Formats: sequence, C-alpha cells, structure tokens
Amino acid sequence: MKNLGILLSGRGSNFVALADSIAAGRIPGARIAIVISNRADAPGIETARQRGLEALVIPSKGKEREVHDREVVAALNHRHVDLVCLAGYMRLLSPWFVRQFPQRILNIHPSLLPAFPGLEAQQQAFAYGVKVSGCTVHFVDEELDHGAIIVQKTVPVLDSDDEHTLADRILEQEHIAYSEAINMVLEGTFEIAGRRLRRTRRL
Ligand code: GAR
Repeated sequence: MKNLGILLSGRGSNFVALADSIAAGRIPGARIAIVISNRADAPGIETARQRGLEALVIPSKGKEREVHDREVVAALNHRHVDLVCLAGYMRLLSPWFVRQFPQRILNIHPSLLPAFPGLEAQQQAFAYGVKVSGCTVHFVDEELDHGAIIVQKTVPVLDSDDEHTLADRILEQEHIAYSEAINMVLEGTFEIAGRRLRRTRRL
C-alpha cells in the first residue's frame, strides 16, 4: 500500500477528486495518509476531517521557507508518505524539500505548461486569447511549475466562455488527469529521458 500525502492551501477539489478515485478503486494500492495545509482557513482541511482523514495545519506565515518545509517534511515522514501530491498548494517548495522526495512530488497546474505558469493561469490564458488551454500534472523540481510533464489534458476555449466557465471546464479535466498521473507514477510504467516522460508497458 502506498501512502499519499496531500498538500493544499484552499478549496481542495483536486484532493476530493483523488479521495473519490481511491474510494472507487480507481487508484489501487494507494491511500491518503495525511492532508496538510499551510493555511488554517483552507476549506480542504475541514473536508478531509469530515471524511475521517488526518488533516494538519502547519502555518507558513512569517516562517522562512525552509523552516516551514522542514516541519511539513517531518509530518510526511512520520506518516511514511511515499508520494507527495500538491493540490492547490500555493507555495514554492524549497530545494531542500524537493531533494527529500526525488521524483516523488507531483503538482497539478491549470494550464498547458510551459504556457502560463504562476497564479491565475486560467485567467492568464483567457486574457491572452488562446483557443486551447488545459491542465498539466508534472513532477516538481526546484523551479515554479516546471518539472517533467506526466499528463496533460486539453480544453478548447469557446466563444461563449468567460474566464470562470473556462476555469470550470479545466477543473473537470484536472480531476481526471491527477488520478491518471498518480496511477502511472505508482505503477512505474514510464521512463524519463531529459524532460521527456514516455509510457512503458505494464509489467
Ligand atoms: C487548481 O486549479 C490547481 O490546478 C491550481 O489551484 C487550483 C486549486 O483548486 N494550482 C495552481 O495554480 C498551482 N500553480 P482546488 O483547491 O479546488 O484543488
């Protein structure tokens, strides 16, 4: 059984989608060992508790990045977390944190990277006028929204869209993409050359 550690800062819909996938048997061999937020007011924390999961708030405010990261990593290690899943975790991880979990930290981002990294990616894409956007699940490295890409899903931008309807349709795809990426990583059915991740056959 592989232990997932979920880090979030807000609503937590990607976390809920993962929890639902696990409950439905769509991510076999995984369980959520802990949900951690850097913000006490993150609705995702309350949802985690309602679902009977262990949920911790480790406030980041006023702390140096690595000091906070050390507290988070200690909590993850204490629960024997195998794979760290950032799900709307609005903090850049320190290089030290990244080194503790080599190729074992995933992030989901609401754009087709490398386009529109950073905050409010859906709004950035809409304002830019792109005709296609989407989402990306990638390994986390030391740069923001940057590591090797695991799964991408495209979403067409419709003439009738505003930035909210576009963000909603991207979110639907995020919820599908994250489970898919986690399954790939847990199954180990891929190889990485440079930045390029290639699926291999199931063992
Ligand atoms: C999601 O759209 C996620 O892709 C994005 O924050 C949202 C969190 O929603 N993450 C980033 O922008 C990371 N750079 P959620 O709390 O409902 O999962």
